[in-house]
Amino acid sequence: MASRSLIAYAGAALLFAAGVSSAAEFTIANGQIYTPGLVIVDAPQPGTPLGGDLIEVALDVSTNGRLQLPPYPEDSRTMIHNISIFLFSYETGRNFTITNGTASTNIASLGDIMFQEPGSTVKHVKWTWPDCLVGDGEEGQGLGDTDRGVYNISIRQSFRLDGEDHYTVFDLPISVTNSIPASIERPSCDTLDNPLLTHEEILASADTNMPVMFAPGDATASITDLNGAASWKGRMSWLGLTGLVGVLIM
Ligand SMILES: *[C@@H]1O[C@H](CO)[C@@H](O)[C@H](O)[C@H]1NC(C)=O
Ligand SMILES: *[C@@H]1O[C@H](CO)[C@@H](O)[C@H](O)[C@H]1NC(C)=O
Ligand SMILES: *[C@@H]1O[C@H](CO)[C@@H](O)[C@H](O)[C@H]1NC(C)=O
Ligand SMILES: *[C@@H]1O[C@H](CO)[C@@H](O)[C@H](O)[C@H]1NC(C)=O
Repeated sequence: MASRSLIAYAGAALLFAAGVSSAAEFTIANGQIYTPGLVIVDAPQPGTPLGGDLIEVALDVSTNGRLQLPPYPEDSRTMIHNISIFLFSYETGRNFTITNGTASTNIASLGDIMFQEPGSTVKHVKWTWPDCLVGDGEEGQGLGDTDRGVYNISIRQSFRLDGEDHYTVFDLPISVTNSIPASIERPSCDTLDNPLLTHEEILASADTNMPVMFAPGDATASITDLNGAASWKGRMSWLGLTGLVGVLIM
């Protein structure tokens, strides 16, 4: 199989964040959110209020065309092993499986997203909101006995980068506050729920030194209030790049 090599700039990091405490920083260019891994998030944007029948998470799994789609050649030095996605909230105590690689019988949780939409570099992960998220509006308007509120879309990438295997966690905050209509088709929250681990337990199992990679130099920092209430965006000055990584991608 023909090979092509390229030098990728792992541009990340030290973004100006003075005075902002409980906030997360995101590296965004042309509406795409870069992650500590090979996946690039096309949608949703951090801090977005969501609702409707389902949530759609759009992920570019080709590192914007730098990485081929599976099946990968056996000796690939860079590849995505698998992607799991959870929707969790320390505020509601919920941790739902969006996909763990194995579809549940009613497809309440999805199968291996790398193999959906064959030929497409963007995987549109569509997940039906489960029953306890039905409601409309913010506090006092449907939040009462439901589990609506602020959540993270937790994107877990198991991948090989230049011959080394990694597992990273990227949490993207959203709020489940727009209208979600009731329907008997909605899966039960309890069948999708997993135990919540502490932040420390999660960090212990993940590769935390991996920087946000592949962002172009004109990326913008977005600082999102973790309470999900406000989202602030703007072009910010880069204090520096963590490094330049030469990566051989098929
Ligand atoms: C993902 O890939 C890693 C590395 O091959 C493997 O250890 C892990 O079990 C896989 N996880 C899932 C959910 O398939
Ligand atoms: C979202 O994830 C961040 C970082 O992992 C965490 O600090 C924050 O508490 C989470 N938000 C919610 C609502 O659970
Ligand atoms: C995947 O998630 C579903 C729903 O939460 C669960 O029933 C199943 O056991 C999980 N499978 C694995 C391999 O973790
Ligand atoms: C949610 O559950 C999954 C599957 O058990 C686990 O890997 C993940 O760490 C959990 N997330 C949180 C925030 O506890």
